[in-house]
Amino acid sequence: MNEPRVAVVTGGAQGIGKAVGQALAAAGFSVALTDIQHDRVEATAQELSADTGARVRGYAADVTDLVAVEASVGRINDELGRVDVLVNNAGIITSNYVPAEDVSEEDFDLMMATHVKGAFLYSKSVIPYMKRQKYGRIVMVSSVVGALGFTRRIGYSTAKTAVLGLTRSLAVETGRWNITVNCISPGYILTQPIADRVAAGDLDEESLLARVPLARWGRPEDIAGVIGALATPAFDYVTGTEIPVDGGYRIQGDYLRPDPES
Ligand SMILES: NC(=O)c1ccc[n+]([C@@H]2O[C@H](COP(=O)([O-])OP(=O)(O)OC[C@H]3O[C@@H](n4cnc5c(N)ncnc54)[C@H](O)[C@@H]3O)[C@@H](O)[C@H]2O)c1
Repeated sequence: MNEPRVAVVTGGAQGIGKAVGQALAAAGFSVALTDIQHDRVEATAQELSADTGARVRGYAADVTDLVAVEASVGRINDELGRVDVLVNNAGIITSNYVPAEDVSEEDFDLMMATHVKGAFLYSKSVIPYMKRQKYGRIVMVSSVVGALGFTRRIGYSTAKTAVLGLTRSLAVETGRWNITVNCISPGYILTQPIADRVAAGDLDEESLLARVPLARWGRPEDIAGVIGALATPAFDYVTGTEIPVDGGYRIQGDYLRPDPES
């Protein structure tokens, strides 16, 4: 194949999605960034295109709206020629941190619609293109919050756990068309909404970092590197799996006081 492969990154206007777009463009993909923020996604696409020299285009689409999702995928296929990789990254990480009984129906629905339905609608829309070419790489973005229990994160946590079910069942269903479906689960990545929560005093930075064996915040580039790797032939025989990218947060079991000599 002489034409570059084409990657679609949802929620690509900023944060992790922007870093994923940058990494894939630098690796030679043509990249379609989609986002609900119309102006910002255009500006980010122009910036990444100038930085990398790759074809990077911005598309306005709300992941919860099937008509908008299908229209964006159709335009991407028309303008960039194919759809090879889909990264379901769009999300809302700053829900109200309130106990389960105080979560409104609207907030819970928004979490499920954005993270679960959104990833499903984009997957559903690209699968026919991927089946035709007998090639596709779909990457879901869950979270450490989908794997463990947390207080005051019920909607987000439930939605991110459901993304794992979506990953496994889509992987089983689409495998024979050479479509892989994998999921990465970031730990704590210092993007703007998280930085805002730290500044507001909602997150205890000291106890958080004390639990991370690699002893630092994650960076968007840490996530982008792993997603970029999943889109290479090295991962051609890997499907239906979850890869935590969390500095070791989930394997931390220590409870002794820190060694005074270290
Ligand atoms: N930052 C973290 O610590 C962290 C940890 C685990 C998982 N994640 C996940 O990573 C992904 C990206 O998070 P981030 O930290 O870059 O956040 P961010 O808020 O910086 O970026 C999210 C992007 O998604 C877009 N978006 C939101 N709702 C949308 C919709 N309905 N349709 C289309 N686009 C929409 C936003 O406009 C934004 O550009 C999310 O799925 C998030 O849940 C983040």
